[in-house]
Amino acid sequence: MKYRPLFFWALAVGGVVGLVALLVVNHSHHFAADTAKSVPFQNIAFGLPPLATSDETLLSPEVIELGKAIFFDRRLSFNQTMSCAMCHLPEQAFTTTTSQVSIGMNGRRLRRNAPSLLNVAWQQALFHDGREFSLASQAWMPFLHADEMANPSIGYVLNRLKQLPEYPLLFTRAFGEPVPTMDRVGVAIAAFERTLISANSAFDRWQYAGDKSALNAEEALGLGLFLGKAKCSHCHLIDKADALFTDAKYHNTGVGQLAKSNDAFVVQLAPKIKTVLTPKDLAGFHETVKPDLGRYEITERVEDLYAFRTPSLRNVARTSPYMHDGSLTTLNDVIEFYDKGGGRALAHQHNRKDGVAVQSQIQLMPLGLSHIEKRAIVAFLGTLSGQENTTQKQQ
Ligand code: HEC
Ligand code: HEC
Repeated sequence: MKYRPLFFWALAVGGVVGLVALLVVNHSHHFAADTAKSVPFQNIAFGLPPLATSDETLLSPEVIELGKAIFFDRRLSFNQTMSCAMCHLPEQAFTTTTSQVSIGMNGRRLRRNAPSLLNVAWQQALFHDGREFSLASQAWMPFLHADEMANPSIGYVLNRLKQLPEYPLLFTRAFGEPVPTMDRVGVAIAAFERTLISANSAFDRWQYAGDKSALNAEEALGLGLFLGKAKCSHCHLIDKADALFTDAKYHNTGVGQLAKSNDAFVVQLAPKIKTVLTPKDLAGFHETVKPDLGRYEITERVEDLYAFRTPSLRNVARTSPYMHDGSLTTLNDVIEFYDKGGGRALAHQHNRKDGVAVQSQIQLMPLGLSHIEKRAIVAFLGTLSGQENTTQKQQ
């Protein structure tokens, strides 16, 4: 067996992967059989904390296979053109790297950039504003969102699944019955998403396996700055035994206020006839463009105004553009942004629905980084690209 030595190596390194690895190893042969190059989970997850689950269903290969089929199926959108994978592209780290924000049904522009789904199972709260918690429930939001997959109802999607010839068998194999239900669809997608794992990066080998050849001098300097002078790890956490690069909290970095006022919107007037409208044009139609207030939209607490979830930085070199609105194109842009203290210079006042003006604090300070230091941090971020479960890319 090709991966056995790797398995023992992973255990020897300290058993960091823990419980989930041991559960998953029973099933890893299923994926390993798909392609000779595939890497067993417990190895690619090296550097991530154990992922506890009490639910065996989530680890069943049949449930994962059903979830994968649904994830890639364009027939499950209203006009049969959109699938989950069209905004979360497998070859683009399960996000979209070709546009600032996601483009949905009929070319409609969404407010936000799609997060990478790699390691999504480790997210404590979902979306840039943390408004959802369960992967199984989350899956229904894009199915029904008018700008995403635009299905008119849950029943509509379930009926479609009943009519498509391959699904009864896939549901029977997964759940013992051919009938698609809201729960089963959610559980299957969640199970598939939990297999989208990517760690065991050069950083992990340096930090947690003591491999001092894993980073070069510039990358190691970048790590030192990340932990020290640049204060990145205050929010993008690196722990003793593993690293998620997030504190799972919400912060106002100033990105939210930088955007919006000049944004143009693509509007479809009739099939194939599109026009670009600015917020001013839209105001003429007595429509207001909803600014993105971040976490505040969920909590209505002043301190959450323009605050967004701290994203993980794993695979960040592969997930351009950056920030919730995709407003920064390169990692150099991101470092320049932080070096200036984020959006500090901007006014950050907002009038609430009831007319009361509220303020939110930007939590960054200028860093005074030299050119060499900036380059080193970017180089370090490049070491966070991990190995991946390649079988999940195939359709
Ligand atoms: C039209 C593009 C589009 C489609 C289609 C789409 N998504 Fe997304 N997805 C997004 C965007 C944009 C966000 C971020 C939205 C936000 O934060 O408000 C997102 C967020 C998510 C998240 C949360 C990730 C995180 O880190 O918080 C998950 C999980 C997810 N999508 C899964 C799916 C699944 C499953 C499907 C198919 C049923 C799907 N998406 C279809 C664009 C899309
Ligand atoms: C006060 C907490 C905080 C600190 C300190 C901080 N970040 Fe962030 N970082 C965030 C938040 C919050 C976001 C998301 C902002 C948004 O979506 O608008 C983010 C986004 C990013 C992104 C974009 C990731 C993506 O997928 O879009 C990168 C890259 C990044 N930070 C790197 C760094 C680096 C490098 C440093 C140190 C120079 C740093 N951060 C310091 C909180 C912080």
